[in-house]
Amino acid sequence: MCGISSILSLNDDIMNDLIFSLERLEYRGYDSAGIAYLGTNSKLYRERAVGKIENLKEVVEKLNVKSNIGIGHTRWATHGKVTELNAHPHVCDGVAVVHNGIIENYQELKDKLITEGYVFESETDTEVISKLIAFHIKGGENFQSAFSSSLSKFVGTYAIVAICENEPNILLGAKMGSPMAIGLSNDQQNFHIASDAVALSSLTDKVTYLEEGDIVVAEKGKNLNYEIFNLNGEKVARDAIPNVVSLNDINQNGYESFMLKEIFEEVIVAKNTYDRFNCDIDIFKFRGISIIACGTSYYAGLLAKYWIEDIARIPVNVEIASEFRYKNPILPKDSLYVFVSQSGETIDTLCAMRLVKEAHINTVALVNVNNSSIAREADYVIQTVAGTEIGVASTKVFISQILSMLLMCVKKDSVDITTIEKNINIVLNKQHEFARIAEKIKNSRSLFYIGRGTNYPLSLEGALKIKELSYISAEGHPAGEIKHGPIAIVDESVHTIAIAPLDKHFKKTLSNSQEIFARNGKILLITTENARNLVSDFDKGDIDYIFLPNSDPLYYPFSITTAIHLVAYYTAKLKGGDVDKPRNLAKSVTVE
Ligand code: G6P
Repeated sequence: MCGISSILSLNDDIMNDLIFSLERLEYRGYDSAGIAYLGTNSKLYRERAVGKIENLKEVVEKLNVKSNIGIGHTRWATHGKVTELNAHPHVCDGVAVVHNGIIENYQELKDKLITEGYVFESETDTEVISKLIAFHIKGGENFQSAFSSSLSKFVGTYAIVAICENEPNILLGAKMGSPMAIGLSNDQQNFHIASDAVALSSLTDKVTYLEEGDIVVAEKGKNLNYEIFNLNGEKVARDAIPNVVSLNDINQNGYESFMLKEIFEEVIVAKNTYDRFNCDIDIFKFRGISIIACGTSYYAGLLAKYWIEDIARIPVNVEIASEFRYKNPILPKDSLYVFVSQSGETIDTLCAMRLVKEAHINTVALVNVNNSSIAREADYVIQTVAGTEIGVASTKVFISQILSMLLMCVKKDSVDITTIEKNINIVLNKQHEFARIAEKIKNSRSLFYIGRGTNYPLSLEGALKIKELSYISAEGHPAGEIKHGPIAIVDESVHTIAIAPLDKHFKKTLSNSQEIFARNGKILLITTENARNLVSDFDKGDIDYIFLPNSDPLYYPFSITTAIHLVAYYTAKLKGGDVDKPRNLAKSVTVE
């Protein structure tokens, strides 16, 4: 949710690196982008553009900027529409700020600043930050003191970076609730503050993550120096750790999109997850398990519930983090709490985890991003080793999440990883079949995914991917529930994708599909080769099939996942949307 980046340099050629790092952060939002910098004359300049960073880049490239200090932002709109006026940086009297998070008491602060004569030009909460700092400077404080005084007035979450025309050698950053990483370039020429290590890949080999309440003050003299102060104003040292994000991770490697690349990585992700799975927790010691997550990670948890309850016979509760944290949850001490998150930054999942920790209960994070906030704060970490995921809609990480949770409840050597790999590969080689299905559903008025057992959470995931990427209204339902309401929507303009591999639910799901078919709904059946002879009793008509490879039903979810991801991919491609950056979404959701 918004990405921030900034550079203080001993040289005056920061612009390429600033734009480069912002591009790396685009997954956090792409409603608008902007930069502010001090020119070699120490004057403050600002450029902003609505839409993706390429629009800003076009403007900046023409300017041939020379600057040694600058800040940048890519926005996911929270307060205020997607307009240039609302785009960051926000500037007041020579102070420029970029912000990720929400200043909850902004209205109250804004009202006070208006009485002081300040005129607001945007609808954002962020504008109070630049104005309040400027107000404190006007009152006689220096930049750093004005920055700290302003922070003390904010209620909410923030990662803020600021520069000031009057003190051109100082770059300030502050973190509360939103992530912030800092680092010096290897040649010690540039100091960076950004939202995460991805933004700093290839710019710094080491990164330091700030902790809640930290302020970083970077200053340029003959060299670059920086100091970190904690919430109490004490100078503190924070460890620098290797920046493990490599340029290779964030390259498209010849694929037409990151999403397609990441779907094709699902095979290697399964293998790596299996090989490197490491878990110190014996789930059999617990009387219950709670899995808490959002989005696709939540669906991974729902799927794991079927496995854990079936195999380990431990009751599993799967909760949406934003609901869990506000419902006064019952927290039995003999339960295991697992927080699942690709980014490790989703604010609701993070806050839900903090709630459990406050009750002195151990927490487990199943996260993909090493050193993310959730990983750093959890008592135990299991890493999904899917590598950096850039496509905004999560794909390959889902495979890693479900396999990790399967491995938590079975003996590793009982899992036939070769079959899982082989079957995902077979699905990947059926691309033309998914393209055919996409052609059929692309103009659907509405779409259902239905399934029973583990195919139900997969239906939810399949429907989520369709709506995220193709903007077609899509719903996932337990196949048995369709007649309790959703079937009323069915007519010839509605497609239903039934996930019905040959398992114990096969016949029942087929019957539910027949019920839809009987009402002129169009059916697309994702099934398995061993069911070829069994589906022929379907009436002839508008029915299409995709046959996935046979295996032990335990492994069906892996090949089905790749199948539903490819269906979503090809549908989105035909609809012409940006599959990597679908409208209105962001990959890392750091606001509630
Ligand atoms: C966003 C992303 C989804 C993701 C969800 C949860 O909505 O667009 O792809 O599943 O956040 O994110 P997390 O990083 O916690 O798994």
